[in-house]
Amino acid sequence: MRLDKLIEEQFHTPRKTMKRLFQTGQVYVDGKIERRPERNVEGALHRIVVQGKQLQTDDVYFLLNKPAGVVTANHDQQHPTVIDCLASADQRSDLYAVGRLDRDTEGLVLLTSNGQLGYALMHPEKAVTKCYDVIVNGCLTKTDQAAFAAGVVFHDGTTCLPAKLTILSAQEKRSQAIVQITEGKFHQVKKMFLSRGVKVIGLKRTAIGPLTLPKDLATGHYRKLTQKELESLVEYFH
Ligand code: URA
Repeated sequence: MRLDKLIEEQFHTPRKTMKRLFQTGQVYVDGKIERRPERNVEGALHRIVVQGKQLQTDDVYFLLNKPAGVVTANHDQQHPTVIDCLASADQRSDLYAVGRLDRDTEGLVLLTSNGQLGYALMHPEKAVTKCYDVIVNGCLTKTDQAAFAAGVVFHDGTTCLPAKLTILSAQEKRSQAIVQITEGKFHQVKKMFLSRGVKVIGLKRTAIGPLTLPKDLATGHYRKLTQKELESLVEYFH
């Protein structure tokens, strides 16, 4: 969470006093004076000390194996949402999903109350790699691989960044592949294959940056990020 918000919550610090705390070097993160009020901090990753008192944060981080049929939203009139997948004790109004998956897409969703982390992970400049297992209704070839590597052009002329296509099996009416992309356009993977003349009939996200879908996390299940997984994201806290 934002460092100034944390201090305000814990010390009820007025705006003017807050400014002075930072200006006079009374805010420390990992032993160094921190001058940025907007700094994203996490008590499990950083040692946050203000006027000699160590502060803890209360953000949460969950990995969900999203089932098909569930929408990546906080509320929906018609369909269950990713928030509905959580036990009521874990549902918080400030939770949100980092990176949208279509309703029929399965797989890894990071749910967090730390909005700054989500923003950093999705920022185009960061070019975080997202991995998908894909099944399409046609035969993938080396030409498709080359087109992905060069940057697929959608039917509307939009050009994608270079992506990696690994073909696992290829038959006339069904191919399996792994796709790695570093951006997040609307329906991106489906549109990439459509522009190659095949339709995606199965899509599952298996990784977002250093986070991978745990093999033992059944569809529809979720768990907290482990300390190691949280540490793997440390470069996105800044
Ligand atoms: N690309 C898609 O087309 N759909 C998703 O859900 C994710 C990536």
